Amino acid sequence: MPFAVTEPCIDVKDKACLAACPVDCIYEGGRTVYIHPTECIDCGMCETICPVAAIYPDDRLPEDKRGWLAINAAFFGPEVTGWGSPGGADARYTSTEDHPVVAGWPARVASA
Ligand code: F3S
Repeated sequence: MPFAVTEPCIDVKDKACLAACPVDCIYEGGRTVYIHPTECIDCGMCETICPVAAIYPDDRLPEDKRGWLAINAAFFGPEVTGWGSPGGADARYTSTEDHPVVAGWPARVASA
């Protein structure tokens, strides 16, 4: 039951979740971060700390966010980074790339 990062993180990337994760299974991409589906130990620390409530466990993902589980997983596959299972995020496993859905996500309009 991995957790997944969803669209409120895009272009916000607060990164509090990176510091909170005890196994460093949250990896940085260009516009958002991605949770590794098998390195995640389901502790839930990231969900509690995210200021924009972007993170959900797969069994509580709202219907309109179900696709984010596959988006998080695909970030590590050949479609994006090809990292597989690095075993923990660090400087070597930080990317400016994003999953195509994230890369194509409309930019946020800044509020006045
Ligand atoms: Fe994004 Fe929230 Fe983490 S904004 S970087 S999922 S703390």
